Amino acid sequence: MSSIQQPLFEPQISEFFDGCPVPAFAIDNNHVITHWNKACEHILGMPAASMVGTKKQWTPFYPAERPVLADLIVNGSFENVVGMYYHDNDNFQKSRLIPGAVEAEKFFPHLGNEGRWLYFSAAPLRDQNGQIVGAIEVLQDVTAQKNAELDLRRMWQELEMKVEQRTSELAVANQKMEEDLLRRVAAEAELVKRNAALTELNRKLSMAQEQLMQSEKLASIGQLAAGVAHEINNPVGYIFSNFSSLETYIESLLKVLDAYQRLDNAEDKAAASLELQAIQKEVDLDYLKEDIPALMSESREGISRVRKIVQDLKDFSRTDTALEWQWVNLHNGIDSTLNIVSNEIKYKADVIKNYGDIPEIECLPSQINQVVMNLIVNAAQSIGEQRGSISIATRRVDEDVEIEIQDTGCGIPAENLTKIFDPFFTTKPVGKGTGLGLSLSYGIIQKHGGDISVRSVVDAGTTFVLRIPIKHKDDASPV
Ligand SMILES: Nc1ncnc2c1ncn2[C@@H]1O[C@H](COP(=O)(O)OP(=O)(O)OP(=O)(O)O)[C@@H](O)[C@H]1O
Ligand SMILES: [Mg+2]
Repeated sequence: MSSIQQPLFEPQISEFFDGCPVPAFAIDNNHVITHWNKACEHILGMPAASMVGTKKQWTPFYPAERPVLADLIVNGSFENVVGMYYHDNDNFQKSRLIPGAVEAEKFFPHLGNEGRWLYFSAAPLRDQNGQIVGAIEVLQDVTAQKNAELDLRRMWQELEMKVEQRTSELAVANQKMEEDLLRRVAAEAELVKRNAALTELNRKLSMAQEQLMQSEKLASIGQLAAGVAHEINNPVGYIFSNFSSLETYIESLLKVLDAYQRLDNAEDKAAASLELQAIQKEVDLDYLKEDIPALMSESREGISRVRKIVQDLKDFSRTDTALEWQWVNLHNGIDSTLNIVSNEIKYKADVIKNYGDIPEIECLPSQINQVVMNLIVNAAQSIGEQRGSISIATRRVDEDVEIEIQDTGCGIPAENLTKIFDPFFTTKPVGKGTGLGLSLSYGIIQKHGGDISVRSVVDAGTTFVLRIPIKHKDDASPV
C-alpha cells in the first residue's frame, strides 16, 4: 500500500469504494491492485484479500497474463497496443464524458453459469499536479442487456429474413398477379371480340330467320295457291258458263223485242203477230223467265264466294299492318284461315269447331294466323286415306287464351316429339314439307310470350295447344 499516494485513497474513500454497488478496482502506477471492492468480489468470485497488493487483475478475466484497461491507462500509451487486445466487436472507445478514460465490452465464458458480458470503463487517477498515479476500472454486468440485444438482433435478422422471404414471395405473387391480369385482360378482350362476333352472328341469324319466315310464308302461300285457285276456279267456271247462257238469253229477248217493235209498226198486223208467236215459241220465253233469275242468283253467289276468298286471303296475310300489335278476335282469324286451307281439308276431314267465350287478344294477327294454318295443314296432312276429323277449340285460362287443334291422324312417335320443333325436321317427302312450319310457329308463339305444347298417340291422333297471353307484355321478345 506504500505506493498509494495520499489523499486519493484516504480511509473514507476506501469505505466509499467498498460500499459502491458497482464492481470496481484500482491499481497504482506499478499496476499493483490497491482496491478490489465487494461488488467486484461478488461478480468475479475473487476475494479482495487475494487480489489487493498483487498484479493479478487479469486473472478473473483471461487465461494468460495481459494488461486490462486500467493497465493500459497507467502505461499511458494505449493507442499503440490497444489493437493487440481489443477487436472490433469489443467496442473499445474513448469515453465521451471523462477525459483520458476508455471503455470496452467483452464476453467471458467462464464467469457465472453461462458466461457474462462485462462492460468496462477505466479512468486515470491523477495527483494534485495532474500526474497519473494509478487507474480505476469499473465493471458493469451487461449480460441481460447484451443477450436481449443479441436476441433482438437475431430476431431482427429473422425478421429481415422473413421480410426478404415475404418480399420475394410477394414479388412472385405480384408477378403471377400481373400475368393473371394480363391473361384476364387478354381473355376479356377475346370475350369482347367473341361477343361482338356473337352479336353479329345473332343479327345474321335474325335476318336469316326473318328470311326463312318470309320464304316459309311464300312456300305456304305457294302451296295454298293451288287450293285457292281451285276454290276460285269453281265459281268463276259456272259464272262464266252462266254468263254465256245469259248472253244467249239476252239475244233471244232482244229478238222478241224486235218482233214486238215490228208488230207495233206493221200494216199487216196478223202476219206480224204470227211471226212474234213463232219467235216466242223458238226462244222458250217461259223457260227464260225461270232460268234467268236462277242463273243471276247462282252467279251472284259465285261472285260472293270469290269475294269472300279474296277477303280471307287479305285478312290472312294482313300485309298492310303485318307487324303491328293489335287487339283482334281470334275466331275471325281461325275462320279466315280455315277458308283459305279448305281445299287441303275438305276431302280428308270434317272440321269441328268448339269456340269458347274468349276476349279479343293483343297479338300480331297475321303471324298467329300463320301458326294456326301450319297446325291445321299439319293436322290435315296427318290424316290418311280414311276420312278423319280436325277439332278446333278455344278457351280462356286465367290471363291467357288457348287454341287447341286436335286431329285423328297418324300421331307422332315418342322419339320424334322432341324434334318436331327443330328447323328442317320433317317426315314428309321432299317437296311436300320443308320442316320449318313448327319451328317458325314456336318462334312466333315465344315472341307472344306464350307457349305451344303437344300430346300425341301414334295411330290415334295429335293435339297441339297454343297458349297466348291476352295482353301482350312489352318485355316479350321484340318483333
Ligand atoms: N298433327 C300432326 N300429326 C302428325 N305428325 C305431325 C303433326 N304435326 C307435325 N308433325 C310432324 O312434325 C314434323 C314437322 O312439322 P313441321 O310443320 O315443322 O314441318 P313439315 O310439316 O314437315 O313441313 P312444312 O310445315 O315446313 O311444310 C312433320 O314432318 C311431322 O312428322
Ligand atoms: Mg307443317
